[in-house]
Parts: sequence; structure tokens; C-alpha cells
Amino acid sequence: MCGIVGYIGKKRAVDVILKGLSYLEYRGYDSAGIALISDNSARIFKAPGKLSNLKEILCLQKESDINATTGIGHTRWATHGLPTEINAHPHTCNCKSLTIVHNGIIENYKDLKPVLEKKGCKFLSQTDTEVAAHLIAHEFNETKDLLKAVQSAVKKLKGAYAFCVTHKSMPDRIIAARKNAPLIIGVGEGENFIASDIPAIIEYTKKAIYLSDNQVAEIKAESIKIYDENDNLIANKVENLPFEPIALSKMGYKHFMLKEIHEQPDVVRNVLVDKLHDEDTAVVLDDVQLTKDELEKINRIQIIACGTSLHAGLVGKYVFEELTGIPVDVEASSEYIYRNTIADENTLVIGISQSGETADTITAIKQAKDKNSHILIITNRKDSAMARLADSLLPINAGIEVSVAATKSYMAQLLSLYLLAIYFAENKNSKNSLIKDIKKELLTLPSKLEAILNDTKNIENIAKKYSSYKNFIFIARGINYPSALEGALKLKEISYINATGYPAGELKHGPIAMLDETMPVLAILNEGIVYDKVLSNCEEAKARQAKLIGVTNFIDEKHKNLFDDTVIIPEIKDIVSPALNIVVLQLLAYHISEYLGKDVDQPRNLAKSVTVE
Ligand code: AGP
Repeated sequence: MCGIVGYIGKKRAVDVILKGLSYLEYRGYDSAGIALISDNSARIFKAPGKLSNLKEILCLQKESDINATTGIGHTRWATHGLPTEINAHPHTCNCKSLTIVHNGIIENYKDLKPVLEKKGCKFLSQTDTEVAAHLIAHEFNETKDLLKAVQSAVKKLKGAYAFCVTHKSMPDRIIAARKNAPLIIGVGEGENFIASDIPAIIEYTKKAIYLSDNQVAEIKAESIKIYDENDNLIANKVENLPFEPIALSKMGYKHFMLKEIHEQPDVVRNVLVDKLHDEDTAVVLDDVQLTKDELEKINRIQIIACGTSLHAGLVGKYVFEELTGIPVDVEASSEYIYRNTIADENTLVIGISQSGETADTITAIKQAKDKNSHILIITNRKDSAMARLADSLLPINAGIEVSVAATKSYMAQLLSLYLLAIYFAENKNSKNSLIKDIKKELLTLPSKLEAILNDTKNIENIAKKYSSYKNFIFIARGINYPSALEGALKLKEISYINATGYPAGELKHGPIAMLDETMPVLAILNEGIVYDKVLSNCEEAKARQAKLIGVTNFIDEKHKNLFDDTVIIPEIKDIVSPALNIVVLQLLAYHISEYLGKDVDQPRNLAKSVTVE
């Protein structure tokens, strides 16, 4: 992961870079650092922890030490080496003339390191990046040309990288390179920018060049030159950026996560607009680039995704199979890759990703592409690497999601999958009355979500009551089994409580052994085919003294002696209920984390965008 920013122009580089990094902290916040280059000097400042620690250090510096107009900066998600100051970027060479910030993993760093050590390179950190610093410095000593040094070095690097390199003898340029990690060059007037992502530079320019894999760029204040993998100069392809300057405001909410949870009714309206008009009209999905004939030939669907997006995919499986009869496999991207997956031109492969940058999913999609399957991407970033691989692109339009814990993007992914499944069913001429029911439910979803969000007192009280427990089990069956998985993921990632989601029927096959009064069980029970079954599984848990929380849309006398606490959600058909149940679980996780005083928006060890495999 990691976020990188580079600036060259007339402004104080430190200001542009710090601001840019603040928009990239979602990519990691284990440490931050900056190198400021001017008049044959390279000043490096680093701090472990969040960007605020680096800012404090910079505030203490003399103006003359931080007024350079060329610089590079980094916010780190640790892959190799502890999140210490010594491992923080920028890294440098023996004479500290060259500086580098890097996002990715240099896979052959262990092979390169001893070779460089033999040549006299002294390594200070445990990072793979420092190997690249020494390697490029070594090449520079031969050529005295920073561009050539980088061009030559990248041919020796294996793995993934996006980096910016400077040399104190050449403060008028930054060299950038990219392979399997995002990097854009913002095009300004008399100034240019480099960043891992658009929010870091959108305030300054709306024009950018998306660097492609294996390209190297030489960026000066007045010029940008891009070279391909054979070191040939190529024409610059300048594109308009799709973003307005982003006001990253919490809008009065204590955390971005809470704000994003509350945005969900509008997110649903956004997804549905122009696509679902009423229950009697067919869903319009112009984004699907399959002809009716091609669509009819689809006999298999594979959904690949990670984390929360994977859970959305699991809900999608239920809906697709129910409405279309097409068999659907859902698999974690990291498991889909590096084996012989069975797919062909009649397979629809759906990649789901909030960021569109998740390395495992990108690799999986590329693997599926090689099998000639139609690639449909559901993402919140229509400018992302994954979007660029799509045959059909379904943007979810959830708006920028800042909190590391995904909430509103999950909601938008669910809605997109419902629409997609209906679209397929309608194109296959299914006259299923269930389709009409689902459409009706989707259209009333925003007001039902609002009903939950307008009165959260009960959930807050439950959160407080259960916040001291160290373990949790979430159970459900059928289409809400993914809700149990997602609820458990939310709780563990922001509160560090050990929470696991199980199909309720699996409890008796092992997990029940863990149950006693110290292990609360949260059960999701919707009126429908599995309601009685889940109720029985709850009885089994109760008999083992587990504290029981019920999340249900059904008022039932039987709940009274069974559940210690209950959350009632509005009436909803079972097949659409994951979209309501999840909001209860998001709020529960949020309030437990908040009550425990955890860092809700930036939980430890995580990053919003996971760009390493
Ligand atoms: C969600 O709360 C997590 N932070 C994480 O599981 C995330 O969903 C996963 O890394 C996938 O990200 P993507 O949707 O951007 O591909």
C-alpha cells in the first residue's frame, strides 16, 4: 500500500506534499516522511505513526530548511520491517544524495541486497525499498544521469513498485516509475505533481497522466517526459481527472465511519437513480456491455473480491442463483489466483472492489481475462486500475469513503448486485414475481434505512453493555450468512474484539464448544424460510449460557425468554434484508469501538487500499 506525493514548481513543496499525504493516509499510516531537495541538499524528515507526528517535527524547523520547491513524501503501510522511524520513507543511499519513496514490494530485494553490500552499500533499515535506493544510486554513480539510473535499475527489480526518486545534485527533476502499483502525474503550469491517487493533487490541477506499467517519467517544473520499457520517449496522454476538489469533512459527525453509515439512504437513492424506476419497468443497466445473445450464453458466474467486497459478492450469489438459475462461485481473490481456475468465454467474471486498486483482485481479474471471460467490474473508483481492465464497468457512485472500515460502499455494492441480477433475469425473460417484490423493496429501502438511523439509542446501549467482552460469535443462515461475516469483520477490524461469523447450522459442528457466559452470540433472524432453524440454533446457544442478541424484523413471543437484547428492524423481504441488517451491525461495531476509545477511522495495522498481494 502506502501513499506517495511528489511536487516540483514554485510553491513550498512541504505544504503541497503534507496536504497531499493527508488525503492519502487511507493507504497507510504506520509512518510518514518527506525529502526536500534544493541547492545540492536533500533534507529528510521522518516520524513513526501518523502524519500529524511528521507535521509536529516540521513545525520545529527553520524556514530556510523547509522552503525547497522540490520534494517527495510518503505515508507508509508496513510490509517489510517494523513501523519505526528508521524504516520510514524516504530512504537513501550511503552518501544521502539520492532519496526515494516507494509503494509496493520489491520481491527480489533479498537477492539484490548481498550483491549491493559487497559493493559497499550500508543498509540501515529492514525495508525492501532501501535496496532500490542503493541500486539506483549505484547506477547513478556510473552514468551521472538520474533518468538513466532509474531506467537501468528498474530492469533489475522484480515485484510491484510506484516510486519517486530525487538526487540533490539535480533539484530540478523528479524521476517516477511504476509497475503494478498506481501512480499519476498531475499536470500544472510551471509546476507538476506526482501522487498515488487523485485526491492528493486535485486541488491544484484537473489534468493528469496515468503512468502505465513499466514506464519511467522525468518530471521537471516545465516539462514531463515519459519513456516506455525500451526507454523510448512516448507521447504524453493527458486526461481530465474525474474529481472535484474534495472537502473531507465529517459534517458534524464524530467520525467518518459514522458519517458514512448515515449516508447510506442517499447512497441507495444514487445507485437506483436512472436504473430502477418502478416495479413494473425493466431495470436499465447501460453499463453492461453484453449483447442479449452473449448474455444468454452465460452459463457460469464467478465473483472475485476481498474483505467486505467479498461479503457483498456472497449476497450476490444468493440473489443471482435465485433469480437467474445461473451457478455462481464466490471466491477470495487471493485464493482464485495461482491455480488453474475453470472459466471460458461463457463465464461472466465479476470483480468487486471499493478502491479498484486491490492487488489480489487485480491479479485475479487479469487471470480471468486470459481465459476470455467477460469481465464486469463493480467499483467505487471508475478511474482505477481495475476499472481499466473491465469489459463492463458498473460504478457504484457511493462517493469517497474515508473510513478504513467499509460501510456505504458495501451498501452500494449490494444494490448494484441486486440490479445486475434483476437485469440478467429480465433479459432471460424470467417473469418471476420475486423480481417485482425485490424492486418494490429496493425502492422503499432508503426510508427503512432512515428509520434505523433515526433511532440508534437501543443499539448504542447494547454496544455499551457488550463492549467489555473479548469474543463474539455472529450467526445467520441463508442470504444473511454473509451479513454475519460482514458484521464480525466490522467488529474485529475497528474494536480488535475477536469476532467470527458462522452459518447458524454450523454452530453445533464445533464452535458451540466455545460457548459459555463469556461468549455473546449475535443472531440475525428474518421472517422467511430459515427463521425457525435459526431460532433453534439460538436455543442451543442459550442452553450453553451464551448471552444472546437478536437482530430481527419479526416480533415473536418466543424472543422474550430467549434473547438478552433485541434490535428490531423494519419489515422487509428476506432476500433484501441484508441491506437493513448490516446497518445494525455497522452501528454496533462503531459504538463498541467508540466506547472503547479506539481509533475508529484508522484502526491499527490496516489500510483502506491494499495494493500488495
Ligand atoms: C473493509 O472494512 C475492509 N477494510 C477490507 O476488508 C476491504 O473491504 C478489502 O480490503 C477490499 O478492498 P476493496 O473493496 O477496495 O477491494
